Amino acid sequence: MEELIRRAAADLAKAEYAIALTGAGISTESGIRDFRGPDGIWTKHPEAEMEAYEAYDKLRRDPKEHWEKILEPGSFFSLFDEVMNALPNRGHLALAELESMGIVKLVITQNVDSLHDKAGNRNVIEYHGGVSKLRCMSCNTRYRREEYDLQGLKAEGKLPPRCRKCNGVIKHDGVYFGEAIPSDAAHASLEAAWKCDLMLICGTSAVVYPFAQLPRVARDKGSGRGGRNEWGSHASGGSGVTIIEVNGEATPLTREGVSDYIILGKIGDILPRIVEEVRRVRG
Ligand code: APR
Repeated sequence: MEELIRRAAADLAKAEYAIALTGAGISTESGIRDFRGPDGIWTKHPEAEMEAYEAYDKLRRDPKEHWEKILEPGSFFSLFDEVMNALPNRGHLALAELESMGIVKLVITQNVDSLHDKAGNRNVIEYHGGVSKLRCMSCNTRYRREEYDLQGLKAEGKLPPRCRKCNGVIKHDGVYFGEAIPSDAAHASLEAAWKCDLMLICGTSAVVYPFAQLPRVARDKGSGRGGRNEWGSHASGGSGVTIIEVNGEATPLTREGVSDYIILGKIGDILPRIVEEVRRVRG
């Protein structure tokens, strides 16, 4: 592990445009369950995953009923309430430190918990939206959650919440299964994946698209030359980019040779040691 930490620190220190991609695994040490890990929400509650898959269709069919259901205690969305009071952990703080050192230029996260913002990162794309926001389904305007008294609207029979600009239906900013990624987040993320020369991927099983396509975009740009990683697979394409995973388990990115190497273990242990080593390398 130490050799890989030194290798990652050296790669980060010499990168021109490093970006970080994160998933639920970076927030488990803040007390927020992930989805597909051993104690994941989908692992433990497959019925909640089914409910989440159906949520978008129900919302479009009957927004009023959808909102009345998700505002009930114990609904799938109440699982997000554990998110609102969570605090960033050493993994988030390490990425914020790498941004303040001018190394990590951007974090693209699948998480809706806003913990990268709370940790101090300024350049964050919430690829799947944010639990603290609401968004108009017609004009994409985003509102802070506290700008609407949702329980009050429910009590007065005035759901769904309506956009103050275009009167469109308001939804949670979190991207539902089957819903398109907001175009601004999608475009900016694709551009960064194409531009980066180092991608640090932390805490994602890399099975949900289109997010999981971003490392492949980075890998496939450039010469298209194949390669091998220590898992013996052939990388599908390009050079000119270093892709590093930090995760509790191997992922399709590891097995398909999309990443150059994986540092297996707890993100909260590994990232601070990488930052320490970068400081040492930089002197
Ligand atoms: N340190 C390192 N790895 C960890 C840690 C930790 N402390 N905790 C969990 N992990 C790993 C798990 O082993 C797993 O491989 O993080 C990964 C989390 O994977 P998922 O639970 O699938 O989360 P994620 O990849 O973010 O899911 C993507 O799926 O349901 C949707 O919208 C949801 O954004 C989410 C998307």
